Amino acid sequence: MQQLKYYIRTWGCQMNEHDSERYSGMFNQMGHSQVNKIKDADIVLFNTCCVRENAERKVLGNIGRLKHFRKQKPNLIIIVAGCMMQQPHVINIIEKDLSFVNLILGTYNIHRFPQLLEKVLAEKHSKRPLVEVWDQAKSVVEGIPSIRKFKFKAFVNIMYGCNNFCSYCIVPYTRGRERSRSKEAILKEISTLVNEGVLEITLLGQNVNSYGKDLYKEYDFSDLLGEIDKIDGIKRIRFMTSHPKDATEKLIDTIAASNNICENFHLPVQSGSNRILKKMNRHYTREQYLKFAAKLYSKIPDITLSTDIIIGFPDETDSDFYETLSLAKEVSFDNAYVFLYSKRSGTKAAESQSQIPENVKHERFDKIISELNAIAYRKNFDKVGNIETVLVDGISEKHPGSIHGRTRGNKIVTFKGDSSMIGTIVTVRILEAKRATLIGALC
Ligand code: 5AD
Ligand code: SF4
Repeated sequence: MQQLKYYIRTWGCQMNEHDSERYSGMFNQMGHSQVNKIKDADIVLFNTCCVRENAERKVLGNIGRLKHFRKQKPNLIIIVAGCMMQQPHVINIIEKDLSFVNLILGTYNIHRFPQLLEKVLAEKHSKRPLVEVWDQAKSVVEGIPSIRKFKFKAFVNIMYGCNNFCSYCIVPYTRGRERSRSKEAILKEISTLVNEGVLEITLLGQNVNSYGKDLYKEYDFSDLLGEIDKIDGIKRIRFMTSHPKDATEKLIDTIAASNNICENFHLPVQSGSNRILKKMNRHYTREQYLKFAAKLYSKIPDITLSTDIIIGFPDETDSDFYETLSLAKEVSFDNAYVFLYSKRSGTKAAESQSQIPENVKHERFDKIISELNAIAYRKNFDKVGNIETVLVDGISEKHPGSIHGRTRGNKIVTFKGDSSMIGTIVTVRILEAKRATLIGALC
């Protein structure tokens, strides 16, 4: 069997990043090896995202540019995978305009990759892409190997898919209905990772708070977290993403009572206006969100809170926008990812006749970003003087002689140190706050 060099580029969320780690695992198992530069590769794999139009456009542009590489390397194998491929119009574009692609595969059949790659390698000079995209998952497939980017932290999928159909979102169409992995499979995977030296686990799912609803009568996400917390040797547990409608007080109590669940909660609010939340099909109100955030702050005083916000959802008025702004101030988010609403065909919101002009979206975006930045700085400033534990994850490129890592609250801290500390948990005194990071010194 030929041993080839592969290059993977990933767009989108952690779920996609983790899928790419599995592609690496399968490539390596087949005897191929990863390279970091596209020019060194015999095989290029793009793992794509379509949550916003911008991402989709960039991916298509990047696939287009591969034509030039193919001219220099006629044997180059080009593979495109991931969420974008679950949309029939994308397959049409690729088959029509980018037909030099060798293999197209979707999100439900990742485990079929080794067989499909073999087929492509055998039929290298075929003039058409081999397309294998399923329209739904057949079952949860266990045992796909993965090559992790870091030795000391790892992603673990606890469930796939989403049942929520938020009216703006394409994910339920590209990732299908919720499928939970069994708790035994999850606990076994985490124990193995911890035995291999992993200190931090991030549990992944589109809506982790509905974990188990498709499998168990009583056992829920909090129960799973409680069991993971007891695994010998685990130091940090994170999870994402939570949906506010399914976030429970039991979950807050589980975090508060645990030793290893990090005091950090990512809870996408999307909008602070009840009118817009309803149109978004989010199933909670501004008041319910605020109540949950207040409970988090009161039961877990060190908690940091982050969120996702969409600006310019169809029909969003100035007054709706100001409701979002005031909610952001009231909650005082440590961090927020703000997105301009992007029309995704096939979703309910895309049909609305009340799309917001781009210039209005941008004005609102700039306004909320400057407010959120000021809040983030204040929240960081509150940490000055604290002693925090930090999991070191790399060398600082900006500050020679320094390293960086994350606190339990997920804040980035930079401090003097050397590469021997990467992958260890150290104690750091916080000396200075910036908007997005903290500066500290080893204790
Ligand atoms: N437009 C803009 N942002 C979106 N998101 C999801 N769909 C869209 C869209 N059509 C954002 C949401 C979600 C995050 C992952 O991406 O805020 O929480
Ligand atoms: Fe999309 Fe809503 Fe599901 Fe999140 S919960 S993936 S925003 S549909």
